[in-house]
Amino acid sequence: MKSTITGWGKCSPQSVMTNDDLAKFIDTSDEWIKQRTGIEERRYCHVNNSDMASVAGQHAVACAGLTPEDIDVIILATCTPDSLIPSAAAHVQKKMGAINASVYDINAACAGFVYAMEQGKAFIESGLYKKALVIGSEHITWLLDWSDRGTAVLFGDGAGAVVIEESTDESEGEIYSFVNGLSSEKLEILEVPNFGSAMDRFKPDEAAKIRWTFEGPEIFKSGVRAMSNASKEVVQKSGLKEEDIDIVIPHQANLRIIEGLEKALGFPNSKMIKKVHRYGNTSAASIPLALVDAIEEGEIKGGETAIFTAVGAGLSWGACALKLKQDLKPKNTSNAKLSDFNGTAIDTIMKAIKYQIPEKLEQI
Ligand SMILES: CC(C)(COP(=O)(O)OP(=O)(O)OC[C@H]1O[C@@H](n2cnc3c(N)ncnc32)[C@H](O)[C@@H]1OP(=O)(O)O)[C@@H](O)C(=O)NCCC(=O)NCCS
Repeated sequence: MKSTITGWGKCSPQSVMTNDDLAKFIDTSDEWIKQRTGIEERRYCHVNNSDMASVAGQHAVACAGLTPEDIDVIILATCTPDSLIPSAAAHVQKKMGAINASVYDINAACAGFVYAMEQGKAFIESGLYKKALVIGSEHITWLLDWSDRGTAVLFGDGAGAVVIEESTDESEGEIYSFVNGLSSEKLEILEVPNFGSAMDRFKPDEAAKIRWTFEGPEIFKSGVRAMSNASKEVVQKSGLKEEDIDIVIPHQANLRIIEGLEKALGFPNSKMIKKVHRYGNTSAASIPLALVDAIEEGEIKGGETAIFTAVGAGLSWGACALKLKQDLKPKNTSNAKLSDFNGTAIDTIMKAIKYQIPEKLEQI
């Protein structure tokens, strides 16, 4: 049996945080951020992660011409769930009304969506389930340390989703194969240490004092290497040649990382999908968000052979080779959206600013 992507959808919260907005309370500038990362703005979420995930999921399900009740399994890739018990996916099942789905979260950090897609493919091709909803959704601004300019400027919130079903005809496309893995010798270069059972939860304010371990230049080098190795391997594993690849959707962490990957693969600029300027790094949501935008903006026209590749904390990494379906016209649409919000992006993080950098309040 073969499987393929039959629907796609996204949720991008309405509050926009520009680089100039960030410079009001972080010692940074539009020029520095653009030059080092290519990021121009990002979205901040005023509700919970599962709200974004369920909106993206509803769009994907409608696009596939299905109803939420048709979905057999929801796999939600996230490292910022609303709650640990139950999973964020449980909230998504409730919010979408996907009452027949078994659901769970997976956490492979920024590589989570590629990991989750592999499971979606396995479920469909084993015959265990017929319709899988794979979501990447992150409320990463909730986890940021606003006193750390080296990380705070890089991230944004969002969600993207795809539906995976059986493919019975060549025109429906095919998910070929995956090369996913993790290099734990690099575990310490990107961590939010002790946030979990390793935390002393009876120490006052312990959770509020979260600090990131983030070796930017080392993540940069390891990230390019991991994504290019996984991409080359997955091309081979799928019985393809590099010239067969029409597009690459890499994890959208930093424009310079994407350009590094482009060089390592020897691919022309036109093959690389780049949306990082718009969203910043949205972790597990970045690939499906870029996929949906590239389809909606006509960069992807249908029938392309593609690679999705990502890298994240762990150091988790992965790549998937697939053929997209020929006809990308959505079968149906959904009017799902987030609740209205009249505040600014700064308002969505005001509590954190008051706690972590109270001295900056008067500058805002
Ligand atoms: C984080 C990153 C943009 C930093 O770029 P860089 O060119 O490596 O910059 P460095 O970390 O060497 O820092 C250079 C200088 O900029 C400063 N700086 C860091 N953040 C800054 C900010 N937001 N604004 C202004 N200056 C900043 C540093 O303090 C340093 O100053 P110094 O030379 O006086 O000490 C880059 O390393 C990167 O993108 N890495 C990958 C990170 C990532 O995306 N991870 C997630 C993967 S899932």
